[in-house]
Amino acid sequence: MNASLSFLQELGIQAHNAGTWIGSTSFDHSERITSSSPVDGGVIGSVSVSTPEQYDRAVAAAHSAFLEWRTVPAPKRGEVVRQYGNLLRQHKEALGALVSYEMGKSLAEGQGEVQEMIDICDYAVGLSRQLAGLTLKSERPEHFMMEQWHPVGVVGVITAFNFPVAVWAWNACIAWVCGDSVVWKASEKVPLCAVACQILWNRVAEENHVPAGLSCIVTGGVEIGVRLSEDVRIPVVSATGSTRMGREVGQKVAARFGRSILELGGNNAIIVTPTADLKMTVTAAVFGAVGTAGQRCTSTRRLIIHERIFDKVIDAIKNAYGQLKIGSPLNAENHVGPLIDQAAVAMYLDALNAVDAAGGTFHLRGGKLEGAEYSSGCYVMPSIAEVQNDWSIVQHETFAPLLYVMKYRDLEEAIGLQNNVPQGLSSAIMTGSMQEANLFLSAEGSDCGIANVNIGTSGAEIGGAFGGEKETGGGRESGSDSWKAYMRRQTNTLNYGNALPLAQGIVFNI
Ligand code: UN1
Repeated sequence: MNASLSFLQELGIQAHNAGTWIGSTSFDHSERITSSSPVDGGVIGSVSVSTPEQYDRAVAAAHSAFLEWRTVPAPKRGEVVRQYGNLLRQHKEALGALVSYEMGKSLAEGQGEVQEMIDICDYAVGLSRQLAGLTLKSERPEHFMMEQWHPVGVVGVITAFNFPVAVWAWNACIAWVCGDSVVWKASEKVPLCAVACQILWNRVAEENHVPAGLSCIVTGGVEIGVRLSEDVRIPVVSATGSTRMGREVGQKVAARFGRSILELGGNNAIIVTPTADLKMTVTAAVFGAVGTAGQRCTSTRRLIIHERIFDKVIDAIKNAYGQLKIGSPLNAENHVGPLIDQAAVAMYLDALNAVDAAGGTFHLRGGKLEGAEYSSGCYVMPSIAEVQNDWSIVQHETFAPLLYVMKYRDLEEAIGLQNNVPQGLSSAIMTGSMQEANLFLSAEGSDCGIANVNIGTSGAEIGGAFGGEKETGGGRESGSDSWKAYMRRQTNTLNYGNALPLAQGIVFNI
């Protein structure tokens, strides 16, 4: 039996009976989503779609779990998350393999994703003793001021197919130590990964006698996402996915004065300067462009190369592409696995045609791969195309291994090209020059949420705040002070005197 199926069985998941999860209880319903693997087209299982009633019960359970959980001291909440991290360590290989099989990323990247979950657990444990507010000086005698950070309530988490487990964990682990509960709408393309995470969480929750509804899953398509966005019981919605989806979610959440944390499309570029280390550049660019088959929001979409070294860099990258092995991600020798489904393949092929129509020149023209090994119909050969930055196709994110290349003369021009897209997630410069590196990181440099020097655009660590500007949505998740978005800030002024002086010197005698 396939390793992923036996893992699901070991977790006690009958793959045909995994739908809405309210804490440790699962609910079945006749409308179902089938999950099949892009690796070999095999059907892994099906999950039931949450009915409106089940959705309501999940949010109600999450809300009552929150009321109890917010009274638990934060370091004790951290202790529960620590145990979840340990359970993930035990199941890293199996959960990573399920991620690879259901989503199609390489085994190493599947394991890497579970490692990101473990890392964020560790991070959240430390954070649970550091949810610190400021003390502030009062203008009035015998007064002081401070800020407290309180749990905010139920946090809705909407995640995309490309990171089936890690992105939920970035949100959930932080939300839990902050004292919140979580309702998760996972991508309908990878629902079994979500169920596996839930079952592992349930074990920890039961052992620690913490409320079952701290983690709930709701399953379904757009309609569930809309319900969650419009739900006044959910003060914070964190959504990862396309700009189109985020625009909908953001507007709906804002219309009811909720807060959203949006992590949307990217159009990430690496600027390759004359002093760049060629070997490092090739590794950064190739991993960035074809890693996860180009399906990361941080994937490298554009290379902006100095004209003097353009041919040399293109030759080196083409040479590296020539050595790429494309095939089952479960075979550790392969570098590139499938796209998520055949619709994604069609979008890739459409983008190649759009590049042709705009007048682009292909240095490598990929396409759909045929043959027994590729029978799922989801495998493609990556492409490299020389384009103009302002073409409409280049301004859009194509979630596939399509790398655009373009030339520049001076660094201001390169930074202009890099910034001249609607998205603002990740960016990088490869340079040996301190001046160039510092200009790139300055206020006149990259306008992205992530700007790297001598590192590619993808593969951010959990310790930093993750997210970007413009159409990327402005949200920040994971590390640094991102936790503040999962809490509500309260300003307290305390009077320890016997008089009541008013602020701003106002005198009010009665
Ligand atoms: C995403 O693609 O939505 O920086 C997240 C990276 C990963 C996360 C990507 N740590 O590439």
